[in-house]
Amino acid sequence: MTRKTPRDSEDRAVLNSLESTYCPDVIKQAREKQDEMLVRRFRGHAYAIADIGCGTGYHGSIFAPTCRLYHGFEISPEIAEIARVRWAKEGLSNTALFVGDVADATPASAFYDLVFCLYFTPGNIRDKSGDMARYTDAYLDQNPRFVTVFSRFYRALKTGGTLLLTIYKDTPEAEAAQIDFYEHTGQQVITPPGLRFVATREGFWSARWTRRSLLSNLNACGIAEPDICFHDLNAIAWLIEIGK
Ligand SMILES: C[S@@+](CC[C@H](N)C(=O)[O-])C[C@H]1O[C@@H](n2cnc3c(N)ncnc32)[C@H](O)[C@@H]1O
Repeated sequence: MTRKTPRDSEDRAVLNSLESTYCPDVIKQAREKQDEMLVRRFRGHAYAIADIGCGTGYHGSIFAPTCRLYHGFEISPEIAEIARVRWAKEGLSNTALFVGDVADATPASAFYDLVFCLYFTPGNIRDKSGDMARYTDAYLDQNPRFVTVFSRFYRALKTGGTLLLTIYKDTPEAEAAQIDFYEHTGQQVITPPGLRFVATREGFWSARWTRRSLLSNLNACGIAEPDICFHDLNAIAWLIEIGK
């Protein structure tokens, strides 16, 4: 018998939420607006695209048919396998999957035209700890793991390229939507209300952001404020566009 690890439990929770028919309206709306904007602006070009936390391959199916190459980075082997099978069935031979923690990836400099980290995935990146006291506001204002990943992927962008991040705003509506989503997809929230992140017993962790916390994290990646644009998706979400 194989033992279930905390990683398995988190991966299962993530897969449940990605596959569930349940999704709070504000989260569904934010995702639809995110996708509308991405498709309108970025589909149909011969781009090299990286997708950090590509999940079951949803955005690869949209962009890979017309882009030059599409690289998915995914920590869960089970979820990555779903993306692999999906892209193979669709004949997307310009796709590749890198399975593992994206913090261990060392992408080549000036390689990608676009780097995606969508559907609130930037808020999942952290040094994993069972001690929730570790994730203070100071940690969230300069999350070392986030800084490692996005410094590297910013370097991996070509000049003229774009980094796109979808994040939760730190609003009561966003917190309520997170809790609603996790609890209705089989998870148990273990954090008290009012923190800037929500964690579950299953090991899932998702941070919300203020303008200041995003800017301070991105500044630590060497990204200057004039290159950062906040697109308001709705009451709970921003799509952040970073130009290089
Ligand atoms: C909220 S889901 C979004 C999936 C996909 N981007 C979408 O829009 O449907 C976040 C995904 O990122 C993956 N993930 C979380 N942390 C990661 C890390 N450190 N490295 C690589 N993948 C990660 C999760 O396993 C999950 O599939």
